[in-house]
Amino acid sequence: MFYNICFSPTGGTQKVADILANECAGDKKVIDLTDRTRNFGGISLSGDDVALIAVPSYSGRVPAIAVKRIAAINGNGAKAVLVCVYGNRAYEDTLTELRDTATKAGFRVIASVAAVAEHSILRNFAQGRPDEADRKQLIEFAEQIRGKLLSGNATEPNIPGNRPYRKISATGMIPKATRACTNCGLCARKCPVGAIDGNDFHHIDREACISCMRCVAICPQKARKVSPLMLFLGKMMLNKACSKRKENELYLY
Ligand SMILES: Cc1cc2nc3c(=O)[nH]c(=O)nc-3n(C[C@H](O)[C@H](O)[C@H](O)COP(=O)(O)O)c2cc1C
Repeated sequence: MFYNICFSPTGGTQKVADILANECAGDKKVIDLTDRTRNFGGISLSGDDVALIAVPSYSGRVPAIAVKRIAAINGNGAKAVLVCVYGNRAYEDTLTELRDTATKAGFRVIASVAAVAEHSILRNFAQGRPDEADRKQLIEFAEQIRGKLLSGNATEPNIPGNRPYRKISATGMIPKATRACTNCGLCARKCPVGAIDGNDFHHIDREACISCMRCVAICPQKARKVSPLMLFLGKMMLNKACSKRKENELYLY
């Protein structure tokens, strides 16, 4: 069986994972790592399975909650294709941390991909990506990965990244409900970490919030927003690092 295991609060990582997974396999089982109601410890794969494990890069690292949920899964020797998706700045130690997490969980890493998607906080960076050129390139990557899977070569590829991993810097970008909020509660139900109070959607647990922007992306009223000043400052700070188009990368050997 082919597993598509993905942590994608705003859908960019999922887009990349789906392009690769659709090209690699027919039947697939989808595991949504943002689902906080799921018991990930109850998921066991086997040595015949292949898993695509996809996460976004947050501060050049794997989001801590994704590490925890992947670590709970029992890989049992299943082959893994790792995918890190980033917003056109950099992904630093994300693939290395994902590799270490997946290996500890019992997966055998046979390929890794770093791909670009629209920046989920600063939407002007990598806007519209993955685009048509990305799609074509990711399909080529998937063909090469499928070739390696069929060849029986299960060697681990060399990937970039350092240990100890870089220090995480909190973005401070905590979305808030505006007056347009109709109290539908979708944000609280779908928050990957349960940071929005289920009885008062204006109340956020600031310690728990991971600034993933899920609530901003899914609100039917577009009622959840990050401070425009914070967004402006973020865009100014990252403008140089994020503006030049970065290309997707495949690590196979
Ligand atoms: C809290 C946070 C931190 C981020 N840090 C980085 C980063 O260090 N480098 C980068 O290029 N993009 C960064 N991004 C952008 C995301 O990696 C990128 O937009 C990704 O596609 C988001 O995945 P999603 O659409 O599946 O939620 C960050 C986004 C968030 C929400």
